[in-house]
Amino acid sequence: MGPEGGGDALLRLEGVSKRYRRSGLLALDDVSIWVGAGERVGLMGPSGSGKSTLACIAAGLLSPNAGHVRFDGVERSGGGRLPRGRSAAVRRAWLGMQMVFQDPEASFIPTMRLGDAVFEGARYLPRFKGADKDRLVREALEAVELPGSYAERFPYELSGGECQRAAIARAVIGRPKLLLCDEATSALDVTVQAKVMALLGRVHRELGTAFLFIGHNPALVGGFCDRIYRIGGGRITEELEACERP
Ligand SMILES: Nc1ncnc2c1ncn2[C@@H]1O[C@H](COP(=O)(O)OP(=O)(O)OP(=O)(O)O)[C@@H](O)[C@H]1O
Ligand SMILES: [Mg+2]
Repeated sequence: MGPEGGGDALLRLEGVSKRYRRSGLLALDDVSIWVGAGERVGLMGPSGSGKSTLACIAAGLLSPNAGHVRFDGVERSGGGRLPRGRSAAVRRAWLGMQMVFQDPEASFIPTMRLGDAVFEGARYLPRFKGADKDRLVREALEAVELPGSYAERFPYELSGGECQRAAIARAVIGRPKLLLCDEATSALDVTVQAKVMALLGRVHRELGTAFLFIGHNPALVGGFCDRIYRIGGGRITEELEACERP
């Protein structure tokens, strides 16, 4: 399918441009991409090409200067806040996208125990109201092969790889429809990287989660994704199906 495909896309960015105000830099220039339900889409490009900017806009953490972002049938406005006073459907759609970043330790609050941090991603969901938090957290940690006792630990008491697995546990505990991974394995050594990739593959198979998977490494991105966008200088330069993997 070409760039016009994906009629009922789960995530769609259309004509998105972003100029950083202070530097005046045009980081994204008329970018249109989409991710179908359950699809694993890669985004690959050199350093500074706009990948993280695009991720932040998709997540609603940054506002675009032009263009539209729709996720799960709901238009996303930037600002990074869970929309208050909106309908439950809007809030649920917002929580249906979760993120895993490059630096796992920095994505945790240093003074919050892991158990509370992992549950943070789920506590707003209606189906977890009155749920047994300790059991849910233990199951989420065990699913990423961390001992349940780690719920009592602080992020700095974990290794980088363990911390990244905890970040994945936090991201998937609420069964998101889309997982946005921005260089999620780049900071890890090769064996830990392989384990985390296997874990993400299992999340995809078992939960049907779609991915927007950002990375540098063609073998890694190509090995995981069904379809890949290349980005350069803030513009999408190419779209590849899995059979044309680089
Ligand atoms: N907050 C900001 N203010 C001004 N310029 C920014 C800001 N964040 C990023 N940029 C610039 O926007 C461009 C795109 O940055 P971005 O972080 O999106 O790139 P990237 O593709 O994720 O790179 P990397 O692979 O190194 O993570 C770069 O030139 C960067 O210097
Ligand atoms: Mg980046």
